[in-house]
Amino acid sequence: MESNQTPKIVVIGSCGIDFSTYSPRLPVPGETLHGTKFVTGFGGKGANQCVAAAKLGGNTTMICRLGDDHWGKQYKDYFREIGVNVTYGTITQGVSTGIAQILVAESGENQIVFVAGANNHLSISDVHKAEDVIKNADIVIAQLETPFETSLEAFKIARGIRLFNAAPARKDISEILPYCTILCVNESEASLLVDFSVDTSNMVKALEALLATGCETVIITLGENGAAYISKNEKDPIHVLCDSVIPVDTTGAGDAFVGALATFLVTKRNFPLHQIVGAACDIATMSVTKEGTQTSYPSEHTAFNKVYKYVTLK
Ligand code: RIB
Repeated sequence: MESNQTPKIVVIGSCGIDFSTYSPRLPVPGETLHGTKFVTGFGGKGANQCVAAAKLGGNTTMICRLGDDHWGKQYKDYFREIGVNVTYGTITQGVSTGIAQILVAESGENQIVFVAGANNHLSISDVHKAEDVIKNADIVIAQLETPFETSLEAFKIARGIRLFNAAPARKDISEILPYCTILCVNESEASLLVDFSVDTSNMVKALEALLATGCETVIITLGENGAAYISKNEKDPIHVLCDSVIPVDTTGAGDAFVGALATFLVTKRNFPLHQIVGAACDIATMSVTKEGTQTSYPSEHTAFNKVYKYVTLK
């Protein structure tokens, strides 16, 4: 049975404008390539996760910092248009909105450089201003494109699920881990945290090492191979499989997963975790079949009509 109330999803995190160029392949250092297309779009990992959740019908609030340039104003207007509560989105004088320089190859793979700009100003005092919404949220999501101590403060205040997406990769995050209900990372982010190269052959070792850091559940996303997780509440680690597709643009697929995971965790509470993770993988898979980040996120889906295959890893 699903809840009658619309659960509240709060994202504390980054916004950026994506400057995306498309070319046959990624250049090697020092090389200039002819590209085939250039587009700008709304991005930033935090905002992507928030918009992914909003498109799936989530009741979303974004706590963020934007610059006092035209991008900042446009971003706020856009949030309002798509139904994201941006009351706690602060325009910051004298700094630019975050931007990301993104290269996408025909294979779908990408390279990203993110310049945080106003995101660096998201502060503990912003968290205190939004204290009530953080306390009343069913789930709070944070990442690593905004100051770490700000996310830590939000997680200390939050009472609902705390979902931490430790991206982009960073090593010194141990202080927040005991406050995390769920830590979600990809293989390269996991590798940095556990000090060995994580792949399918050592997945259980990696999951167990991360679980020992204090969070309740650890999810490692595996791209087209789905996701693996371990939980203090479940006996064995699980690998959830997903459909594979020919990718067009993988940018923001991890954010689609996190936004969908958050939405399904609070709206599909009675489903087992492997089904929720499978459905979130399905949303991420849908996103890689289209160009762009937020533009590729679905608002219509049949993810919960499917039964996801999973295997226990022990
Ligand atoms: O995860 C993808 C996102 O990373 C892009 O939208 C870009 O803005 C960077 O933050």
